[in-house]
Amino acid sequence: MHFAVVSLFPEMVGTIGQYGVVGRALQRELITLELENPRDHASDAHRTVDDRPYGGGPGMVMKFEPVAAALELAKGKLPDGCPTVYLSPQGQAFDQAMAKRFSALPGMVLLAGRYEGIDERLIESRIDEEVSLGDFVLSGGEIAAMAVIDAVVRLLPGVLGDEESAVQDSFVGGLLDHPHYTRPEVVAGRRVPDVLLSGDHAGIARWRDKQALGRSHQRRPDLLKKLDLTDEQQTLLDEFLKEQRL
Ligand code: ADE
Repeated sequence: MHFAVVSLFPEMVGTIGQYGVVGRALQRELITLELENPRDHASDAHRTVDDRPYGGGPGMVMKFEPVAAALELAKGKLPDGCPTVYLSPQGQAFDQAMAKRFSALPGMVLLAGRYEGIDERLIESRIDEEVSLGDFVLSGGEIAAMAVIDAVVRLLPGVLGDEESAVQDSFVGGLLDHPHYTRPEVVAGRRVPDVLLSGDHAGIARWRDKQALGRSHQRRPDLLKKLDLTDEQQTLLDEFLKEQRL
C-alpha cells in the first residue's frame, strides 16, 4: 500500500517508518511512504504557507496554493484510486472499521494541517474525506496521520508476523481485548488466573471471550449496544457479572 503525507513537518511524520511494525513493513517494501511539504511550493521569498483569516479572529490559516500544489505532487506519486484524507477534529470519527476500509485501498494521501486549519476551498475541491481521531484538539494533523497509517498498515496481509494477532486485536469483534499475562505466575502478590495455566484451550478461549465481554460492558457500554450478542455471549456476560458480585 502506498502512503503520501502532506505536512509542514515531514521529518516528524517520517519517524513512523523507523520503528516497529510500520518500520518493518517499509523495509520489506510492503508499503511506501512519500512526504511532501507545502513550504516547498510557496511562491514568495519568505516561503509563506499561512495567512490571516478573512473575517478576523485569532490564529492563521493554511493557504490554498502551496497546499494544493503539494497535494497534487503527492497524488501524482501514488497509483490511481487513492483518496485524499484531511485529518481534523471536524472529520468522521476514525475507528477500526474505517482502518479496515482504508486497508483495502491501493494507497492514500493524508493531509496534516497546522494553525487554525486550512482554507475551506481546499476541503471542497481537493479532499475526499475528513477524518478525526476523536473529540480533542491536537496541535496539528501529523500525529493523527501517523495514527491512521499505523492502524491501517498492521491490517495489511503479511505485515504482522503472526496473522492471528490482528484477528484477535481489540475492536475486531466490536469488543475490547481480554487481559494478558506473562511470567512469572505470581508477581506483586497477584496470581495469573488458574484457567490460563490449565492447558484447556477451549476453557481459555471461553474465559477470554468472557473477559472481553465483561470489560466492554463495564468500560464501553456504547460498544456493546452496537452488537447483537449471541446466546453464548449473553451467557458469558451474565457469568462475568455474577462472578463480579461474588
Ligand atoms: N488535528 C487536530 N486535532 C485533530 C483530531 N482530533 N483528529 C485528527 N486531526 C486533528
